[in-house]
Amino acid sequence: MRNSSPLATLALVLAISLASISSHAAGDNTLEVFSWWTAGGEAAALDALFNVYKKQNPGIEIINAAVAGGGGSAARPVLQTRLAGNNPPDTWQTHPGLELMDQYVDPGYCEPVTELYKSNDWENAFPKELVVNLMTKDRKIYAVLAGVHRGNVLWYNTKLLEKNGIKVGDKMSFDEFFADCEKLKAAGIPALGVGDSGIWASAELFENTLLGVLGPKGWSDLYAGAMQWDDPKVKEAIKLFARMLDYANPDHFALSWDQAIKALMEGKVAFSSMGDWADGEFVAGHLKEKEDFGWVNHPGTDGSFIVVADGFALAKNAPHKEAALAWLKTVGSKEAQEAFSPLKGSIPARTDVDRSKFDLYHQWSMDSFSKDKLVASCVQGEAAPAAFRQALNDAVTAFIADRNIDNFANTLVEAAKESQLKK
Ligand code: GAL
Repeated sequence: MRNSSPLATLALVLAISLASISSHAAGDNTLEVFSWWTAGGEAAALDALFNVYKKQNPGIEIINAAVAGGGGSAARPVLQTRLAGNNPPDTWQTHPGLELMDQYVDPGYCEPVTELYKSNDWENAFPKELVVNLMTKDRKIYAVLAGVHRGNVLWYNTKLLEKNGIKVGDKMSFDEFFADCEKLKAAGIPALGVGDSGIWASAELFENTLLGVLGPKGWSDLYAGAMQWDDPKVKEAIKLFARMLDYANPDHFALSWDQAIKALMEGKVAFSSMGDWADGEFVAGHLKEKEDFGWVNHPGTDGSFIVVADGFALAKNAPHKEAALAWLKTVGSKEAQEAFSPLKGSIPARTDVDRSKFDLYHQWSMDSFSKDKLVASCVQGEAAPAAFRQALNDAVTAFIADRNIDNFANTLVEAAKESQLKK
């Protein structure tokens, strides 16, 4: 400032003070939304929610605080640090069940949103088994669901399968799947696309396979402690998981989940077992259902629906509480639910939406949700505490390297004890 004139100095001072006034003003009219939705389909769907919100709440500026990394593997630690440091975003993405209750509600980070359910007449609009069983404590509800993903879907590249003489029916068994894998292997094609640079994607492949062997009854026995993690059936699932890994793309550690789906879209791999956020990638890539890509239950899991629901919670002492309440009202509105899920791959959490607005995949998933057995996901934080989920991820990482079935099972027996999964 050595050479500046008094006038220039005055202008600079004015500019600085005006900037601070306007940033203060903007600060009051903002809403900070935290999530991990940054992949193509995820970002498009989040944007659709933002657009409905902006229409319903003109003048409020949204701060998109998304942290990249599928399954929230990078976002959740950032969120924990912010919550522990009393610096919460106004609202954040969370899975109902133990993730919401253990990590956020019990430590006192959330404000209940029960009033919204009353004032918007939502009590009958959302499935009770999700709201009451997974999001309520002491008769207070703690989140609003945006959508419900199905975790156990096997996606495939239709043209690549046709070229290799493979036809997929309405259901898929393990034997059928491995027979297809062998054909593809003989043609030099990695049958299974995996992107486990965040290890959860392989843990999800295991979780889906485990359900395929145990069925929904065995699943609830396992998580209720009535079956142990070294049960012969669990070991059978670990064996099948290892067999599947033998058909995976060699570069799986280098890819994220959405890069693995991209490999499927490009015909580099044939199948991918992934929750139906994958459908968001097909939609974003303008692929045609059936013609370009298809889907079927993950082997053995026909009749079951692994629920991976996405909700938003309200921060206690939210910096912009009114704007955050308005956000949750938008998320739960019919308009937002109908705008979000077609792009995200989930089905709306509300059961009163217009089905004709949804494509074939969504209708298939809606049917499955209404008639199949619903089970909660461990990999996505609903069925088990965070410590067990982490132990499962670590055990999967170790197993990929050593393929030791007993080690895998015994580690999980110990982890279940330590994290107090009921015995
Ligand atoms: C899940 C989440 C989905 C999807 C997926 C991949 O945890 O529920 O909405 O975003 O991660 O990032």
